[in-house]
Amino acid sequence: MELASSFLGKILYNSLIMSMAILLMAALSRTLLRKTSPRIRMACWLVIALGFVVPVRPLPYVVTVPVAESPILNDAAFLEGLSTARSMESMEGANQRRDALGDAEDGSLWEDSFASFQTASAGGKGTIGYEGVLTCIWAMGFLVTLMVYSVKHWMFLRMVRRWGRPVDDGVVERMREVGRKVGLRRRVHLLASPVITTPIMIGMFRPWIILPVDTVTDDKLRYVLMHEALHVKCGDIWVKGLSLLALAFHWFNPLVYLMNRTIVTESEYACDLSVLRHLDEGERFGYGETLLFVAKRGRRAETLLSTSFHSGRDGLKRRLKNIMDYSTPKRWLARSCIAVLVVGLFSAIGLTGFRIETKSVGVKDRFMATPSSRQDELWQIGLKDVYKDYFMVGTAVNSWTLQGELLDLTTKHFNAFTFENDMKPDQVQGKEGEFDYERVDKVTELLNGNGVHMVGHSLAWHQQTPQWMWGSRVKAKERLESHVENVLRHVGRDMVAIDVVNEAFGSAAVGDDWRMDLRTEGWYSVLGSDFVEIAFRKADEVRQAIGRPDLKLYYNEYGLEYEGKAKAVYNMVKELRQKGVAIDGIGMQGHFDQNVSVLEVKRSLDLFHTIPDIEVSITELDVAITRSEHAEQLSPKEEEMQGLLYAKLFSLFRQYAKGSANPDESKRLIARVTLWGVTDDGSWRAENHPLLFGGDGEPKQAYYAVADPDGYLADDGKLDANGG
Ligand code: GLA
Repeated sequence: MELASSFLGKILYNSLIMSMAILLMAALSRTLLRKTSPRIRMACWLVIALGFVVPVRPLPYVVTVPVAESPILNDAAFLEGLSTARSMESMEGANQRRDALGDAEDGSLWEDSFASFQTASAGGKGTIGYEGVLTCIWAMGFLVTLMVYSVKHWMFLRMVRRWGRPVDDGVVERMREVGRKVGLRRRVHLLASPVITTPIMIGMFRPWIILPVDTVTDDKLRYVLMHEALHVKCGDIWVKGLSLLALAFHWFNPLVYLMNRTIVTESEYACDLSVLRHLDEGERFGYGETLLFVAKRGRRAETLLSTSFHSGRDGLKRRLKNIMDYSTPKRWLARSCIAVLVVGLFSAIGLTGFRIETKSVGVKDRFMATPSSRQDELWQIGLKDVYKDYFMVGTAVNSWTLQGELLDLTTKHFNAFTFENDMKPDQVQGKEGEFDYERVDKVTELLNGNGVHMVGHSLAWHQQTPQWMWGSRVKAKERLESHVENVLRHVGRDMVAIDVVNEAFGSAAVGDDWRMDLRTEGWYSVLGSDFVEIAFRKADEVRQAIGRPDLKLYYNEYGLEYEGKAKAVYNMVKELRQKGVAIDGIGMQGHFDQNVSVLEVKRSLDLFHTIPDIEVSITELDVAITRSEHAEQLSPKEEEMQGLLYAKLFSLFRQYAKGSANPDESKRLIARVTLWGVTDDGSWRAENHPLLFGGDGEPKQAYYAVADPDGYLADDGKLDANGG
């Protein structure tokens, strides 16, 4: 939820903090500050009014408040929508799948889904809808308040202008004298008006003093002019203007009205005090009398954007008391109070302000909100230990990255290691007959040990394979067999499984006749569909020869969540096994994105499970979050969505686990789940943040989701909603 970081959130938060400043100021004004100069109090009010108008806090402490709501992934309909979008994509052509991984097509699907979420939440499920309504209400209040005061001010000006007439020369002369006496440098215009009963001053840029038309004694006129001239000199109208603006922004806050009224009276106290400084003791009495005289006749001005000699009954008594009070304000008291106040005010408006951020409590957050010791607990346990009785938990490794903290992270969580690149044909046999196992050996030496399994990847593939391998049919068969033999003889004893053939099928596989679905490049281009059989037969022969009949020979493929492709692989494996070809396992790569349908994955698992004694591994799992723009990090919602998908996938994998912890013996199928990398930045899809750990090695939501899928999905029933 973005409320606190939104415009409205800032206004509300600001209102709350500045209200505390008002209360503090009001309390101090009635006690400690009572004896201080009203000018100092006015300065404090100015700071507070400013704090209301400028909602920026330079050094915020962020306080995060969890707010229960129904976010994106808490919505079964949304997930079903994703599923539908995903199936439609699949119907429209699984052939596009491979190339579409991470490209714009997936991105737009996602954007559509995301857009529909936004629409849904605008309808009331998320915060966007209700925040929008609140913002409208606030904006209306703001405009109405501004309008009311502007219209009043404008009408008042119109009336004054209409009925106003120039003052006598004597008054002008008096004004000059007064101006000189109080040190006023600005030019002040004078007008007499029959429509007012108390002298007032208006105009922020061009000050006007408007006087009632009836004749007053010269002394009274002098006091009145002095009072207004000092209002002009001290800029009181600006403080009032600021306070009015604060009132428009915070029209919903009663304390701002209180502030506004207090500023009106305080400005008069302050002005009286300034006047008294220019009067002798005899005149002081006359000034008080003038105040009473004006108060008896008049109401205060009809516009708040003015200062008036008589500002209402509210402060009259106190003003008179002040005028007759001969004691001087206590400076030491003033100073210490100001120190307290400055600290208080700055705490409220700026230097040590804090910002409240609310955040949605969805599946992830509820999970995360459970005692953090739970997170710690999950972090302490390695993933490999969480799943030790279910399946191996693997990752892809490269000889050049395995060091330092990454190595620690890798060995803490994983117990099966697939060679991401080091064992590919171009790395092992770049030149014919020259085998190089340096990198493979280095990795094996480093990682292989107790309870750890090494996985070979891959022997026959159309990519990362030197072109020279595919010569004539005869040569190609020889080369394929010699490559398989040499590699297996070297590494076979250390491996638990190896991908013998990788990605024989193209994206367009429909599954009716598997031979028709094979991609036509690479080994196929010289050996036709036979290359699969040749590779597996040779691998089987070598594993027997090296005394490792238990080394699992895998066929590895991407996109096996698609029905057509799954059928093609199923048909091929079944047929070859019937011919006596040893294929022990099917590797479902699992390069997913946010549109993955757990239902479809489950359907393929069910299909493969019908092949007797077959095992399945998820061999290259990652869940990319594709967006039109690649942001540095996933947004909290995206991370949450990714976490939920991981939780659902692992929950599903557990149901098909080959290990003894799976209570349903009839479903024991999955031997290993391998993530395709450890941290996002080392992933081949780095820009889509597909893994469990961020670039800094910190666990993402996805990690906690994998570490405890049930906890993550707790009380949501999402598994059923999406077919897990
Ligand atoms: C396929 C291969 C992997 C890897 C990825 C992309 O899935 O099997 O070895 O190359 O493509 O990184």
